Amino acid sequence: MSISQNHLKHIAAEAALAYLSNIEIIGIGTGTTVNFLIDLIGKNRKKIKAAVASSIVSAEKLKQQGIKVIDLDSVSELPIYVDGADEINLRLQMIKGGGGALTREKILASASQKFICIADHSKLVERLGSFPLPVEVIPMARNYVTRKISALGGQPMTRKGITDNGNIIIDIHNLNIQNPSELEAEINQIAGVVCCGLFTQRPADILLLATETGVKTLFPRNQS
Ligand code: 5RP
Repeated sequence: MSISQNHLKHIAAEAALAYLSNIEIIGIGTGTTVNFLIDLIGKNRKKIKAAVASSIVSAEKLKQQGIKVIDLDSVSELPIYVDGADEINLRLQMIKGGGGALTREKILASASQKFICIADHSKLVERLGSFPLPVEVIPMARNYVTRKISALGGQPMTRKGITDNGNIIIDIHNLNIQNPSELEAEINQIAGVVCCGLFTQRPADILLLATETGVKTLFPRNQS
C-alpha cells in the first residue's frame, strides 16, 4: 500500500520537532509541508516563544496557532530555519519558490545558523531543473528580464499575481541546469531580478526526507 504524500509531509514535519527542544525563536518557511509543522508546534509548543515567518500566509497560520510572530529585525540571530523545497539534490541545494515566497525564504535561510529542509521523497532529485525555476522580478523590468532569461535557454512564463513584496514571478521552464551555483549567480546579476529560486549559496544543512520506510536524515554530500 502506498503512503499518501500528505502523510509523508506530516512525518517529515514531525521529525523536525526533535531539533526544536531548546529553541526559543524559530524561522518558519512556507508551503504545505511547513503547514504541518506549524500545526504540530501549535499543539506541542516546546520552548518556542516566537517565530519569524517567510510569508504572510505562514504568519497568519502561526498566529492562528497562538504563536507570536516577530520581525527578523527584532532578533540578533535565528538559530534554526525550517522550510520545504520544490526540488533538492544530494548537496542539499534546492529549487524553491513554488509558493512564491522565495525572497523572504532566502533571507531567512541566509540569516539562520541551521537550515533544516523537510520534504517527502518525491522532492529528491539527481539534477535540479525539472521544476520550473521561479525568479522574483521588479514589475517594470519584466520584459527586459524575460529577454535575458530566454537567452539562457529556458522558456520564461510570468506567474499570475504578485508576491508579498509587490513584485512578479517569472517561472523558467525547461532550463538545462548544468551548474546550479553558476546559474544562481548569473541570474542574480540581471538588473531587475530580486531573487532567484536556486538555493546553492545557502543550501540546507540537514534534509529530513520522508520515505515509505520512515524519515531519513541526510547531510550535504560532496560530489564532483
Ligand atoms: C514556497 C516554497 C516551498 O517550500 C515549496 O514550494 C515546497 O512546498 P510544499 O511543502 O507545499 O511542497 O518554496 O515558496
